[in-house]
Amino acid sequence: MPLSYMYWALVFLYAQDALACNRPFSARMADSIISRAQATVQKREAPSASTYLQVGFFQSSLIRLIDYYHTPEAVCAESDWEKYLQSSTDAITPYLLNSTQDASYPLDRLSTANGLLYQYEEYHTRNALSSLRSLRNSVNLQRRNALGGYWYFNYPNWSYLDGMYSLIPFLLSYTTNFDPTNATVPDDVLQQLDLLWTHCRHDGTGLLVHGYDESKSASWANPVTGGSPIVWGRSLGWYFMALVDGLELSSSFPKSMSRYLLSRLIQLTESVISVADSTTGCWWQVMDQANREGNYIESSGSAMFTTALFRAARLGYLPDDLASDARKTADQCYSHLLNAFVVQNDNGTLGYNGTVSVCSLNSSASYEYYISQPLLYNSVHGAAAFVQASLEREIFDDSKDSSRRT
Ligand SMILES: *[C@@H]1O[C@H](CO)[C@@H](O)[C@H](O)[C@H]1NC(C)=O
Ligand SMILES: *[C@@H]1O[C@H](CO)[C@@H](O)[C@H](O)[C@H]1NC(C)=O
Ligand SMILES: *[C@@H]1O[C@H](CO)[C@@H](O)[C@H](O)[C@H]1NC(C)=O
Ligand SMILES: *[C@@H]1O[C@H](CO)[C@@H](O)[C@H](O)[C@H]1NC(C)=O
Ligand SMILES: *[C@@H]1O[C@H](CO)[C@@H](O)[C@H](O)[C@H]1NC(C)=O
Ligand SMILES: *[C@@H]1O[C@H](CO)[C@@H](O)[C@H](O)[C@H]1NC(C)=O
Repeated sequence: MPLSYMYWALVFLYAQDALACNRPFSARMADSIISRAQATVQKREAPSASTYLQVGFFQSSLIRLIDYYHTPEAVCAESDWEKYLQSSTDAITPYLLNSTQDASYPLDRLSTANGLLYQYEEYHTRNALSSLRSLRNSVNLQRRNALGGYWYFNYPNWSYLDGMYSLIPFLLSYTTNFDPTNATVPDDVLQQLDLLWTHCRHDGTGLLVHGYDESKSASWANPVTGGSPIVWGRSLGWYFMALVDGLELSSSFPKSMSRYLLSRLIQLTESVISVADSTTGCWWQVMDQANREGNYIESSGSAMFTTALFRAARLGYLPDDLASDARKTADQCYSHLLNAFVVQNDNGTLGYNGTVSVCSLNSSASYEYYISQPLLYNSVHGAAAFVQASLEREIFDDSKDSSRRT
């Protein structure tokens, strides 16, 4: 019976392979970003102001994949995550070594510390440590408005929600690892978050607008708060993720830190869930103006909220009722992201659609401005946010499976 034996052996091998090779969406999207050579600095091409955040955000996505799945082989991924992490870190390092230069980039530059810290912890790379030191010094050089709020970039006195995603985890992890005696960092972190909270909070909805001008001289500045007029999904998405990611890094700091972060997170979670679109579970580009002409469901902000809601629930930061609402909304939006924005190519790669390019406060900052910025296919901000949303959804599914088994 050698032939039939071989037949069954093949069937067995094939079935094993099929079982083992159920590559999850998080890994497929990460592989796709890598196959497009995105989120890294191309040879002989200086990074643009927006490159830093693309690099740092995708690094954080890869590190989270490695933390959970350990190796790409474990989930039949096709690319070497570790190697990409290293090469994207190596490629950006030469641009980070001068603190004065660093301070001329947006606060987003600090997200590249994700890859640097990883290289330093895993391989004790000297260059990584030098870059981390330069980035840390550059925070001391960052210009501040009269209240002490960091400028986001080169616009005088303007602070943006966006910058917190890179600033907060950087200051917390750098201080924990290299500078534990700097006792002013916790106050600085809370001050930055709180200035944005108090100047950007929208009374009716509890959501936060994109940014504020402390000097109130911008054409769009609210005469009392300096706040800009519009609640933009992705900028609030960055801030919301900063609260959750900040909490993950808060354990070595005084309790007042996690108390503050938790209370803001819970308030914002309620507000964010309350404006989720009832049909899709996702979020509008202009978050509090559902269905207004020209407004649409935006795919990067929606993936960020999905990520942060799943993560906050998973890590136990939300009271039970709210955690259950958070999971329900995140789950509903995740299905919509898959159906509406993920493009499955014949060669197995995934595309990601429907991500707004850039919205700047160096503009009219009006409703018309926010709804008329171009939509991009395969933007890293959208695709990397989808990697993280998928991973959170997979962790959630795995936790249900293991509780069923026990
Ligand atoms: C660092 O960058 C600043 C601003 O671009 C420049 O003036 C300075 O010469 C640089 N320092 C070094 C050591 O290259
Ligand atoms: C400690 O951190 C604060 C706030 O980030 C900063 O202003 C200060 O310069 C830091 N001190 C040192 C010695 O780096
Ligand atoms: C920043 O704001 C202060 C007032 O708070 C003002 O005096 C200063 O001129 C502003 N800076 C710039 C560069 O506009
Ligand atoms: C996979 O297919 C997409 C869509 O046709 C294409 O843009 C991409 O270059 C392909 N990637 C590879 C690695 O062949
Ligand atoms: C992305 O979405 C736009 C607008 O819905 C659509 O026209 C375009 O064909 C989509 N791109 C892909 C690759 O599906
Ligand atoms: C702000 O926008 C104007 C008009 O588009 C542009 O000329 C200017 O350079 C921008 N300012 C900065 C600091 O980028």
